[in-house]
Amino acid sequence: MEPSPYHVWVSEIMLQQTRVEVVKGYFERFMASLPDVASLAVASEDLCLKLWEGLGYYSRVRNLRKAAGIILKEFQGDVPHDVSKLKRLPGIGEYTAAAIAAIAFHEKEVAVDGNLVRVYSRLFAKPLDPGSQKDRRLVAQGFADLMSIDPAIFNETLMDIGQLQCLPNGKPLCSTCPLRALCLAHERGEEQKYPLAKKKTKRKTEERTILILTKQDRVYLEKRPAKGLLSSLYQPMNLAGRWKEEDLRDYLEKKGYVLGSFENLGGAKHVFSHMEWHMTGWKIEVLASPKDALFVTRNEKETEYSVPSAFSAFLP
Ligand code: ADE
Repeated sequence: MEPSPYHVWVSEIMLQQTRVEVVKGYFERFMASLPDVASLAVASEDLCLKLWEGLGYYSRVRNLRKAAGIILKEFQGDVPHDVSKLKRLPGIGEYTAAAIAAIAFHEKEVAVDGNLVRVYSRLFAKPLDPGSQKDRRLVAQGFADLMSIDPAIFNETLMDIGQLQCLPNGKPLCSTCPLRALCLAHERGEEQKYPLAKKKTKRKTEERTILILTKQDRVYLEKRPAKGLLSSLYQPMNLAGRWKEEDLRDYLEKKGYVLGSFENLGGAKHVFSHMEWHMTGWKIEVLASPKDALFVTRNEKETEYSVPSAFSAFLP
């Protein structure tokens, strides 16, 4: 069955930073809950974040919802066809615009990511840089010149070859690759030389102390600020730095908590694209809490609150 432009758009956004295998389940659930542009445009942000819980890069779903509002108002609910209109929508860049135009509307576009630069670079034994805009454009033009079949099939075939055959580093699966006979790097036995190596960027690290406050069968959650990292998601209380038990007691008692036992939950690490959190967790029994503190049941947490997976070592 031909997928609707809405299906293609949502799947391309999910696939921006997430593997196909992981996306599948999320995609089904998303479509069951928000089957078209109109339902996404009027959905609450909390519902959208809940459907995205665990996928990461949450600005993707915030932009998706914003863009649905624009498509409803300015394009009568129809996802636009052409790349320049698509790129004006929040969350849609060069790659995604080309992917939607090619896959949903069969426009002659090529969606170039690092995988496609690698395939092209090896096919033609050209030392290209996957991080360079100029090289990405060169690859888009080069593949467009070779396109003689349906752009949807052409693009998805190259994406599959990039993900499944022409693997990075030491592992291209050349013996089963359909492009083997055309590949200059393979002919020369020089697959490893291409593409140019990525420059490594060093992530900064941050120490954090995570407090799992429990009150009978409930757990404390708070909403993160509307701007910045993991904005508007729910989280356990957490503090910058590595805190000692007696300092935590002091801090919480000054806020009006009456506390029972403390249990050290050990350490965990979470890697974001630009930084790492090195965390220490504490499970803390709360006997009484300030009036405005939110404590939710396990069922409420599962169904109503989106908690980023950064905390899942302590709050499964
Ligand atoms: N990655 C991004 N878009 C994709 C698609 N349409 N098919 C497979 N992998 C993808």
